Amino acid sequence: MTTSLAREIRRRRTFAIISHPDAGKTTLTEKLLLYGGAIRSAGSVKSRRATRHATSDWLDMEQERGISITASVLHFDYQGFRINLLDTPGHQDFSEDTYRALMAADSAIMLLDNRKGVETQTRKLFSVCRKRRLPIFTFVNKCDRVGEDPIGLLDDVQRELGIDCFVSTWPVRRDGHLVGVYDRDSARVLLYERTEDHGQSKPRATSVALDSTELEAALGASGVDRLRQEIELLEVAGTVPDLASVLRGEASPVYFGSALTNFGVDAFLERFLALAPAPSAREGSDGMVDPITAPFSGFVFKVQANMDPRHRDRVAFVRICSGRFEPGAEAVVSRTGKTLRLAQPQEFMARERVHSEGEAVAGDVVGLLDRGSLRVGDTVAVGGQIEYPGVPRFSPEHFAQIRIEDALRRKHLDRGLRHLAEEGTILLLFAPSITGPVPIVGAVGTLQFDVLLDRLEREYGVKARLESLPFHCARWVTGPAAAIQKVATAYGRREVEDADGAQLILFDNEWTLQRSVEQEKDLTFYDVQPRRTNSAS
Ligand code: G4P
Repeated sequence: MTTSLAREIRRRRTFAIISHPDAGKTTLTEKLLLYGGAIRSAGSVKSRRATRHATSDWLDMEQERGISITASVLHFDYQGFRINLLDTPGHQDFSEDTYRALMAADSAIMLLDNRKGVETQTRKLFSVCRKRRLPIFTFVNKCDRVGEDPIGLLDDVQRELGIDCFVSTWPVRRDGHLVGVYDRDSARVLLYERTEDHGQSKPRATSVALDSTELEAALGASGVDRLRQEIELLEVAGTVPDLASVLRGEASPVYFGSALTNFGVDAFLERFLALAPAPSAREGSDGMVDPITAPFSGFVFKVQANMDPRHRDRVAFVRICSGRFEPGAEAVVSRTGKTLRLAQPQEFMARERVHSEGEAVAGDVVGLLDRGSLRVGDTVAVGGQIEYPGVPRFSPEHFAQIRIEDALRRKHLDRGLRHLAEEGTILLLFAPSITGPVPIVGAVGTLQFDVLLDRLEREYGVKARLESLPFHCARWVTGPAAAIQKVATAYGRREVEDADGAQLILFDNEWTLQRSVEQEKDLTFYDVQPRRTNSAS
């Protein structure tokens, strides 16, 4: 039993792709699906724009704006591996969702555009991976076009991100056109035949030696000479570091290729899957939790309401960290201490909800139908002995008061706000007032507000508008009531409560916040909601 569990867990590869918008994440994802046999042919970009929602986008807003808003999970088998690809939203306003997806990942692919290198969003997401010490594999995309000098680009990555880069595959060109990649491990060149269908199918690849006649025929004698010189330069630039430094997130293997034409994608995928880690021990509140020997445990990294418009329900996505998911088993939700009977997990195909068939073990993500007992950050564990540190919330930077036109829809508004707050779309706060608590919404980016209004209207039938408030940061606070009052009533601040009744103070800017933190020694400020005991929640 344990051996088969161990075998299953060791073949899991759970990862996310991090990139700046437009670097080609959707295109690469689609190609991974194509190579994994999950789809038969990849659409061209134009037709893909119309159909891509079939695989990972659920919300109408996403379709209208052509951006991926919610993180989703795609899984498929490839060469004996079970791949769990956590989709991450590209838009910066959804960095919180992305952050949560990265909490659930065991490694990350950093996708760069060969003309742009490191961009703002790459930088932000990289810093999250760094904090989590996630192993990072770099894919330099769009090499079918001539881009920045590859060595210069890698220098930039090393300097900007402080990670050691080493080339694993190198672009091979003829007259400026990408014709293959040189694989440093095998010291062979993979030559590709261009497909006539703009990369919808896999191109034929031939592996040839550096001194082969095939390579000379493909590149010409001078082309082979140039490639040899480039390879010598790579050897001078550095030797391949040990796998341990890759697994610690200190060094990143780099692969060149083109997601559009598929050149280099197979070479990348094979090496990546061989090197990327299977689920390993995770830090729990009482020490490390072994994925194989510990009982079932996992944590909720995402909650989404109304995924299937015909069923008004919510799905909590649980990343399994140890053991096997057994439907019918009883687990404990750490935050509440309550028992939860594990139901058959759900899967989603083009918005349709279906029962998930295959077995789920550590490394997998299961979607659990939930009637309000689970929240982002909750640990669910058989035996209730395991608890993972919560999923931190980004402190919101935008705050607004919400107004509705039709006062009779107030109940619907309250329900919608509560659900969307539980999903983590917004932070729901209440300001005390003589007429009762006034709801205030907080968000990391203003696009979250657009999503809020849109979903309130579509899913709860509430037309609402927002009046922005002049605050830009918030902290949970604990300490003597008088000291809290003193800070909260000062100029540029406001006292509010969250949905659990925990106190927060809103600040008009970072400076006022820092001053309060420095001056009020009796108070403790938290940028993550402080943990509460079971009985208090
Ligand atoms: P994203 O999810 O990271 O935002 O990127 P996406 O895959 O949607 O790709 C963004 C654009 O880059 C697309 O262009 C896509 O075809 C192109 N692209 C992706 N991979 C490659 C590649 O390997 N080579 C080249 N040359 N292009 C690539 P688009 O939607 O047609 O048009 P536009 O956005 O350029 O107008």
